Amino acid sequence: MEPEGRPKLFDFQGVSMINYFTDNWEKVQDFRARPDDILIATYPKAGTTWVSCILDLLYFGKDMPERQTTLPIYERVPFLEIAVPQIDKGTELADQLSTSPRLIKTHLPVQLIPKGFWEQNCRMVYVARNAKDNAVSYFHFDRMNMVQPEPGDWNSYIEKFMEGKTVFGPWYDHVTGWWEKKQTYSNILYMFYEDLIEDTGREMERLCSFLGLSTTAEERESIRGGVQFDAMKANPMANYSTIPVMDFKISPFMRKGKVGDWKNHFTVAQNEKFDEHYKQRMKNSSLAFRTEI
Ligand code: A3P
Repeated sequence: MEPEGRPKLFDFQGVSMINYFTDNWEKVQDFRARPDDILIATYPKAGTTWVSCILDLLYFGKDMPERQTTLPIYERVPFLEIAVPQIDKGTELADQLSTSPRLIKTHLPVQLIPKGFWEQNCRMVYVARNAKDNAVSYFHFDRMNMVQPEPGDWNSYIEKFMEGKTVFGPWYDHVTGWWEKKQTYSNILYMFYEDLIEDTGREMERLCSFLGLSTTAEERESIRGGVQFDAMKANPMANYSTIPVMDFKISPFMRKGKVGDWKNHFTVAQNEKFDEHYKQRMKNSSLAFRTEI
């Protein structure tokens, strides 16, 4: 049984979900996208906030510097499907945005993206992170976030992760679904958390070229400094410390920000089992991840 107050997982159109992401479904599904909207899509804990901050700075850092110091990231980049009672609904925040373009975040698997985004041919930035680090990060997030299901202990959590019994469904289907979509829909930029860690500046250049943004090396360098892990961790407008449903005493939102932290969590036996399962689940995909750099 779920501890009191924690949401229960249920099947929603074939995907494990909780009510906080389906309660506003009609509005999500009918969301009126605009042609210049930019959708930031990820499986939870793949680097959404990082890329959101980079994009917000690329578009608005120069002309609206006060935005970064007064508005938390979840208001600058609304989370489309969120419908948690204590927090503004994502669709409403997005509708209220007066900036252009609108930056909108989603964790939906590709098949659940509202049709308006495809009809308007919106640009989409997808960020993927290797399964092991993604699972570790999600485990700690589920421990500290009272509006996520209780994760249980690490051993049982990995089982749930492998079975796809985590919110937004199987990691495997999420990353491969978006990867396949990219082969036919050219307005997706597919990025990797590991690449961002390896060379943030290079990845920002990729972003700029995808979005048709011209920035100077100096501007990019200044943004790169502002979005380093330590800077974001210390920044209340980026670190989620202003949101009421998270308990940072259990684990901070900006936790480690590393590639390879899974090695501190997986036992040898867990790792072998995970690798075996991974091989099966990913055997039909050309998608390749790095679990260390
Ligand atoms: P860890 O839990 O491994 O530390 P999301 O924004 O999708 O929820 O992802 C959160 C994960 O991205 C966390 O991973 C967080 O620390 C990491 N992250 C956020 N900002 C980062 C940054 N500037 N550099 C590196 N990692 C970052």
